[in-house]
Parts: sequence; C-alpha cells; structure tokens
Amino acid sequence: MERAAALALCLNLFISVAVCLEIYKDPSQDAEARIQDLLPRMTLAEKIGQMTQAERRVLDYAAMRDYFIGSVLNGGGSVPKGNTIQAWHKMLRTFQSGSLATRLQIPMMYGIDAVHGNNNVLGATIFPHNVGLGVTRDPDLLKRIGAATALEVRATGIQYAFSPCIATCRDPRWGRCYESYSESTDIVRNLTEIIFGLQGEPANKTAGVPFVADSSKVAACAKHYVGDGGTVNGINENNTIIDYEDLVKIHMAPYFDAIAKGVSTVMISYSSWNGIKMHANKFLITEVLKKQLNFQGFVISDWSGIDRITSPSGSNYTFSVLTAVNAGIDMIMVPFDYKSYISELTRLVNEGYISMDRIDDAVTRILRVKFTMGLFESPYPDRAFAKYLGAESHRALAREAVRRSLVLLKNGQEGSEPLLPLSKSTSKIIVAGSHADDIGLQCGGWTISWFGSSGSITKGTSILQAVRNAVSPSTEVIHERFPQPGFAKSQGADYAIVVVGEPPYAETYGDNLNLTLPLEGIPTIQNVCGEVKCLVILISGRPLVIEPYLPLMDAFVAAWLPGSEGAGITDVIFGDYDFEGTLARTWFRRVDQLPMNVGDPNYDPLFPFGFGLKTNTLLSRYCLTFKISR
Ligand SMILES: *[C@@H]1O[C@H](CO)[C@@H](O)[C@H](O)[C@H]1NC(C)=O
Ligand SMILES: *[C@@H]1O[C@H](CO)[C@@H](O)[C@H](O)[C@H]1NC(C)=O
Ligand SMILES: *[C@@H]1O[C@H](CO)[C@@H](O)[C@H](O)[C@H]1NC(C)=O
Ligand SMILES: *[C@@H]1O[C@H](CO)[C@@H](O)[C@H](O)[C@H]1NC(C)=O
Ligand SMILES: *[C@@H]1O[C@H](CO)[C@@H](O)[C@H](O)[C@H]1NC(C)=O
Repeated sequence: MERAAALALCLNLFISVAVCLEIYKDPSQDAEARIQDLLPRMTLAEKIGQMTQAERRVLDYAAMRDYFIGSVLNGGGSVPKGNTIQAWHKMLRTFQSGSLATRLQIPMMYGIDAVHGNNNVLGATIFPHNVGLGVTRDPDLLKRIGAATALEVRATGIQYAFSPCIATCRDPRWGRCYESYSESTDIVRNLTEIIFGLQGEPANKTAGVPFVADSSKVAACAKHYVGDGGTVNGINENNTIIDYEDLVKIHMAPYFDAIAKGVSTVMISYSSWNGIKMHANKFLITEVLKKQLNFQGFVISDWSGIDRITSPSGSNYTFSVLTAVNAGIDMIMVPFDYKSYISELTRLVNEGYISMDRIDDAVTRILRVKFTMGLFESPYPDRAFAKYLGAESHRALAREAVRRSLVLLKNGQEGSEPLLPLSKSTSKIIVAGSHADDIGLQCGGWTISWFGSSGSITKGTSILQAVRNAVSPSTEVIHERFPQPGFAKSQGADYAIVVVGEPPYAETYGDNLNLTLPLEGIPTIQNVCGEVKCLVILISGRPLVIEPYLPLMDAFVAAWLPGSEGAGITDVIFGDYDFEGTLARTWFRRVDQLPMNVGDPNYDPLFPFGFGLKTNTLLSRYCLTFKISR
C-alpha cells in the first residue's frame, strides 16, 4: 500500500512538474517566455507546418494534424456549404481539433478577406469600400468600423482578417483602387486607426509589438507591402518605378503607423519595386520592415505570391521557396499544393540553403501573434458572438459611413436653383439606371464572391427601396432600369434620380485603361436628364470620365461603393443630413492625364482633390420660401 501510494504520489508529482514545465501552455506567462519554452520543443516538420497557410478546400482534420498546418484561409467566395454561421463554426472546429490533436497542440489561426465588413458571409453588414471611407477622413469612424468588423468576423469563429489595405492608389486605372482610402498618404496614414478597432488599443504602446486585446478582436493585416498602388499605368501586380525616398514618403509611410499601432501581420505585395518582385525583396522585407521599422509580428505572402517570383508562374518552385523565405517571409499563403511547399522547404533547410535561424525567426513571429491574441486559450468558435453578424447597430454604423462618404459635385445648373435637397413630398418621381435597385452592384467586388455580382446577393437596402422608404406615402415612385427616349417626359415626374456606375470587379479584372461609364450609363443619363430635372448618383470604385455628360445633369453625387445600407444615400439627398464629404481622390478630365495626383505640376482636374459642395438645408429652404413669397 505504502509503496503504491508513494508511487502514485511520485507519478502525480511527475505529471504536475511536467505540466508546470510546459510554460508555453501557461497563460500567466508572457508571450516571449512561452515562445522560448515552445520553440526548442518543435521538430523541423512542426516548424514548417506553422509557416504554412493553405486553402480550406484542400484541408481536413487529418491534414491539419499530419502536416501541423499553422493557418487556414479561404479565397474570396470559397465558403462552407450553406454559408451559415453554423457551417463556419463546424468547419473551424474540424480544422482546430485536427491542430489540437498534434503532439504540441498548437492551434491554427484562420484568416479571411474581411475588407469591407465580413464580406464573404451571407447576411453580414457590408460597409463602404475604402475609397468611400477615405472621403470621411475620420479615424474614429474607421476605428468603430474596425470594431464592428472584428465582431462580425468572430461571429463566424474566425480570428484573423486580411485587412486593412493601406495602399496609396496613385492611378485609378488600377483594379484595386477602391481598396485604397486615398491618393493622399496622409489620409491613408490617419485611417490606419481601423487597426485599433480590429485588434483593440494597447494601453502600453510599444511600436512593433503585435497586439490583439481579447477574443472579441481579430489579428489584422496591413497590406500590400509595399508600393502596390504605384504601378505603371495602374496595372495590377506590375512594376512600381520610384526612388527609395518617394517609395518611403508615398507608399511606406502608412506602415509606420500600422506598426506603431501594433498590427499583427503584414502581407507582401505582388508588385515589383524597380523591377524586383516584392516577394523576393530581402532589403525591403528583412532590412527595412523587420530591422529598421522593428516590426515583430509575422510577414505573410499573398496568394501564390511566391510562385510568381518565377516566370511563368511556379515554373521553378524551389527557387520561389528559397527566395521568398530567405527574403524574410514568415508564412506562405500557398494556397493549394501545401505538400510540395512543405517538402521543398524541408529539403532546402536540410541541405543548408535556408538556415535554421531563419526558420526560427519565422516561427517565433507566428507564435508571438498566436500567444498575444490568446489563441491557445480560446481556439474554438464562441457561439456568443453569433448575434453580431449583420447586427442592427452595425447596419446603423454602415449607414452613417455611407452618409459621410458621399461627395456632392454639382447642385443646380448655372444660374438656376439647386436641385438638392430633393423634396420628399412631390407627387411623382422617377428612379432609373442599372444600379438603382441592385444590392450586388452597390456593394462591388469582394462581396459574397471574389468579384461580387449583381442582384440580391445578400441582405441590404437598395437605393430604390431607400427612396420608397424616405418619400411621403402619397409620392408615386416610378422605377425604370433603362428608360428609352421619351419615357421620362411622358411620365410628368417632378424629377428623376438616375443611379449608374461600374460593374463589380476585383484585382486584375478591374484594371481599366479607358475608365468610361459602362452598363448603358451614358444613354440612361442622356435619355432621362434631357427630359426632366435629374440627380445622377455614380456607383463606382473610382472617378470615371464624366466631363462630357456633366452639363446634362442638374446634380451629381459620387457615392463610391456604398455597400448594403442604401438608406445612407437617401438620408442625405433628401436633406435629413447635409453633405460633408470632400474628394480624397483627384477627379480627372481625360485618361490621358493619368496619373495625376494632388500636388503634381500641370494639375488640371475636373474636380480637384478636396472638392465637395455642401447643401445647407435650412438656407435652401429659406431661399425657396423667400422666392415663392416674392
Ligand atoms: C490626420 O490627423 C491629424 C490628427 O488628428 C489631423 O491634424 C490631420 O489634419 C489629419 N490629416 C488628414 C489628411 O486628414
Ligand atoms: C511596455 O511594454 C514594454 C515591452 O513589452 C515593457 O518593456 C515595458 O515595461 C512596458 N511598460 C509598462 C509601463 O508596462
Ligand atoms: C508589367 O506588365 C507588362 C505588360 O503586361 C508585362 O509585360 C510585364 O512583365 C509586367 N511587369 C511586371 C514586373 O509584372
Ligand atoms: C530552379 O532554382 C534552383 C534554385 O535556385 C536552381 O538551382 C535550379 O537550377 C533552377 N531550375 C531550373 C530548371 O531553372
Ligand atoms: C474599357 O476597358 C474595359 C476593361 O479593359 C473594357 O472591358 C471595356 O470594353 C472598355 N470600354 C471601352 C468603351 O473601350
């Protein structure tokens, strides 16, 4: 008995000592102590697994367990069947239980492109794209949007958002220009405040140290480092030709702010700087980002970004892995053939082409983010957050953002009354145009699917619905998508609202050298505005060629890509709120002027950077009364 008891005690002691010694599992220890404890326990295979991010469609429980996969993502529109909160939770639980079935039980982190709300998910609040948010210039608004987005991402059980894009878009011909806040670096810098919303705001700010407050927040990702918005002719993923001083001043400066605010991760740009692919640029990644800027989170590649180091893409994968990892990239967004990536990287380490120090640096950074964000303590989706997806308070916030992102560019023909604010109690109005009654078109790319699409793709309020809700019950609202000549006149309406714009697009598919108004926007404007007083609302990811048609319009509003809350537009055009937005982009006259940015010599825009009219509601009402009584 005594012997057995002693043995039991011994065993007990042994177990508790062993547990105690697992410092990395002890949340009361700081992240650095936990890393120092965990890293030496890891085999090369376990380390390389952490450096791997693969797409959900190629993974399952066994793959997570057997390859020690450190991170999972989904491409735009790659969603679990049904796209419900339950489906997301189930998928994440499966992946996570695979990770936790490994020897060291290191949890995976799941990343998603939540670039204007949690935009892949049905029923999520869709916020305006960054091009509209830039107009507001309001860091506090961005912080509130970041906080709401974090909750909607957590609603699906996800812990990591590939956001914010802090590109300074210098040429609207670029297909990703709408993902940029502005052509002005200062505006982009200020709006990195969204990071405090996504991740929380540290009480003890130590520049460079990643920070995620708790499990209501997510790890953020500043992207795409660096120069993505400066490519030749705005060609996506192309070459940014600029000297180092201007690269820093125009494109890199927002990273100073993101890093100071504790951003957890930085994504590398597909583009090149003076002919060298960023994914291969050791100087800018290791020397500048990690050493000079003291960034201590992890660096992630873009989707197949390392493949494109070689041409044709992926033709020498060994070279891609070697170059990217030695340049300083810590986690590779593979995304599909993770087995080849793992075996190439393993071989390159075993043969001495990549040092163990480099691997340890990468894994240290990845673990630092995982420990800091509390992933070991709460690895699984928490049902308590489900209620935040598409919450009314978030929709109200998105509506506020829409209101404040609108820019009034024309109000009334010269010498005549302003058209805005519109009357809500007139007898008859026409609402026309491709974008008047289409949630998908007003949300743009990166909505439910990668490119986005037209139609009732998710919950929201179209502009037509918002108009119907806003006007008096006695007002007749006539809706005609493509009015023919004579239609508007025949209706005897008091005025028309014409909503036209671009189709949804993403990345290279949005590159456009002509920037003309598509989807029969021009004939629609001509047919309606020639016959009745009209307000034209443009839904687009960037300024378009508008000068030739401007004389036809009585009023003109740039609404960018407003997202799901169309009522933000009617709040302002009917005068419940005043316009307050001013352009955060230069409105060019002709594409042959591009690139043209504020401060350039020979600056000759249609509307300059910073332009935006106000409607002083009270004053216009007074004038109207005055005129009538006279
Ligand atoms: C950036 O924020 C600072 C501090 O709030 C403010 O003074 C400055 O005007 C802002 N700059 C821009 C371009 O919005
Ligand atoms: C802030 O954090 C740094 C780095 O983690 C640490 O050295 C410093 O003591 C902290 N300061 C306070 C006031 O907690
Ligand atoms: C830039 O685009 C041109 C034209 O498509 C292409 O030939 C060139 O390889 C691209 N350069 C880079 C660095 O991607
Ligand atoms: C691929 O890259 C590796 C590593 O740089 C090099 O040794 C090899 O020769 C390349 N293979 C081809 C076919 O170019
Ligand atoms: C403008 O460019 C886009 C994108 O390349 C193309 O689809 C469209 O047809 C062009 N429009 C005109 C009028 O040339």
